[in-house]
Amino acid sequence: MYTLLITPEQTRKILADIKQIYLLDMLNYNTQFAQKAITKMMRTQKIDDFDEFYRFVMVDESRIKEMFGYFFINVSWMFRDPEVFKMIREKVIPALDSYARIKIWCAGCATGEEAYSIAIILDELGLLERTTIYATDIDTQALHVARTRRYSATHMLACTQNYYLSGGVKPFKNYYKIHNNEVILNERLANNICFAEHNLITDSSFNEFQLILCRNMFIYFNDDLQKHALQTFDKSLENGGFFISGYHERIHRNDLKKSFKLYSKLHRIYRKSY
Ligand SMILES: C[S@@+](CC[C@H](N)C(=O)[O-])C[C@H]1O[C@@H](n2cnc3c(N)ncnc32)[C@H](O)[C@@H]1O
Repeated sequence: MYTLLITPEQTRKILADIKQIYLLDMLNYNTQFAQKAITKMMRTQKIDDFDEFYRFVMVDESRIKEMFGYFFINVSWMFRDPEVFKMIREKVIPALDSYARIKIWCAGCATGEEAYSIAIILDELGLLERTTIYATDIDTQALHVARTRRYSATHMLACTQNYYLSGGVKPFKNYYKIHNNEVILNERLANNICFAEHNLITDSSFNEFQLILCRNMFIYFNDDLQKHALQTFDKSLENGGFFISGYHERIHRNDLKKSFKLYSKLHRIYRKSY
């Protein structure tokens, strides 16, 4: 079994002290997840004593930022959970056709695969030109990868089947060219995507969207932070707009159920009431 090198109390202490001293707020991440992330850094630094690690980190803001890097798990795939993207293709995007300008927010976009998947669907439905996709993340390194549009060829191969399972019918290789062992997505797909830094803990809503995706991020947040993020999404979503959470994440907050009505339980798709 994987041994954690830090207790829940020590985790909360170090995060609370960082918040107080450096005003960097990571206190509301799920404690168990934070314990694992900090343990990973302790192992990398070959430090297994909490007090020693505390002194090591607290002395320097760059070490704190390095520690937070362990919190940002930016694993992603194109058309991840293809059945969800099938619903997006067949039901959600067609419902946005009546808008002159379509605005979509991919929150926690990591290395960009989700935003590019949406761009491909919009392109195939003839709606890409009148859509802006805002793709945001707290992790600047992940955003850098997203902007380069470069992925390993093996990674993209693993995503190919997802594309077809999600209802794609074109040759998937039309969307990229191969260079050495890398795949570079077509530049055209990025033309309507705006990648930007956005922290769901501290930054507020910044637009009115008809579709917001926030997938595979809530699992890292505690209850308070989930509530805060959902309020931000509520404020950012037009009436009748769609909100999609991760396939294994559920909004179980009664206080927000009046805003987010279940549209498809299986696919974790919600619709904001009119
Ligand atoms: C597992 S990835 C999800 C990627 C994509 N949405 C998907 O489902 O494939 C989670 C992302 O959440 C981002 N994240 C974590 N905390 C965040 C915060 N407070 N604000 C914005 N993004 C955050 C991480 O940097 C990471 O890229």
